[in-house]
Amino acid sequence: MIEVSGLRKSYRSRRGRKAASVDAVRGVDFCVERAEIFGFLGPNGAGKSTTMRMLATLLRPDGGDATIAGADLRRDPGQVRRRIGFVAQSSGTYDHSTGRRDLVLEARMYGVPKSAAQTLAEAAIAAFQLEDFVDRQIKTYSGGQRRRLDVALGVIHSPQVIFLDEPTAGLDPPSRARMWQEVRRLRDEGMTIFLTTHYLDEADTLCDRISIIDAGLIVAEGTPSDLKREISGDVVVVDLAAADTAGAPEPAMVLEASKVLAEQPYAESCETIEHTVRLYVDSAATAIPQIMRALSGKGIEPGAIETRRPSLDDVFLAKTGRTLED
Ligand SMILES: Nc1ncnc2c1ncn2[C@@H]1O[C@H](COP(=O)(O)OP(=O)(O)OP(=O)(O)O)[C@@H](O)[C@H]1O
Ligand SMILES: [Mg+2]
Repeated sequence: MIEVSGLRKSYRSRRGRKAASVDAVRGVDFCVERAEIFGFLGPNGAGKSTTMRMLATLLRPDGGDATIAGADLRRDPGQVRRRIGFVAQSSGTYDHSTGRRDLVLEARMYGVPKSAAQTLAEAAIAAFQLEDFVDRQIKTYSGGQRRRLDVALGVIHSPQVIFLDEPTAGLDPPSRARMWQEVRRLRDEGMTIFLTTHYLDEADTLCDRISIIDAGLIVAEGTPSDLKREISGDVVVVDLAAADTAGAPEPAMVLEASKVLAEQPYAESCETIEHTVRLYVDSAATAIPQIMRALSGKGIEPGAIETRRPSLDDVFLAKTGRTLED
């Protein structure tokens, strides 16, 4: 349903007297299958919204090609627009209209007759649980209420492909769970969903496949479980903050601990993040006693040691040397 190759975009702007340029998307390739939830994961400024805005015909690519629902992005943006829905990262309009009125209008803009549009609005109100506020002016909505209306507006005409830029940003946990349920229902009805998110757990549980983008390039792609499987073994997180006071440890001590742990033969790799050291090992069960010995040899007593299976953050860390968490 979506085929992208070599897509790129630079923004040119003037900074003082000098012309500045930001290479926001530096040549990305990916394919999204019909009725798939495909997630774009990456830190702030990675190029997620830029990619999405290009695919939704809102921004002209500098290079590359894309086909969306069978329509060519460059040659036939009008056809692309008719086959997709788009929900922007933030919708700026805080108008005097009500949610219900906008839902009906949106459906009518796609040529749905009035009574059918009202029925569609009714269904969307129930699906996204908008009943409590939908007849109020939109400018009075909370952030999460607004977000739910945005997504309802984006899918009311049942597009073949929906682009959702951070659909769950600012939602409370029950609303997020509810949004996931709706996104899955749309997928099960055959809609293709392309979404961006910062939430690793969301990418992990909601998305059928994900792509991790960093500084305008895709650094990893696959199903969440395939990506995590690439990182074999266990993760041991050694927290050097004192357990009793939870006070931040001396930076010199963290440095010393990370040095000694990185030298351990069983540590496949080792990353220091603030006052924790993350070790990738074959087996946590055999590594932990050795970690304790190595640290106590330097007179270091960790506040806590946690072990877990690799997460998508470990995948991101392995590919970029940085963490997406926090
Ligand atoms: N109109 C613009 N003019 C100049 N630079 C821009 C413009 N829009 C975006 N950028 C820059 O392009 C880069 C990519 O931005 P983009 O919005 O695509 O990132 P993102 O992955 O969506 O980030 P976030 O997670 O914060 O939403 C950033 O460095 C951003 O500052
Ligand atoms: Mg964005």
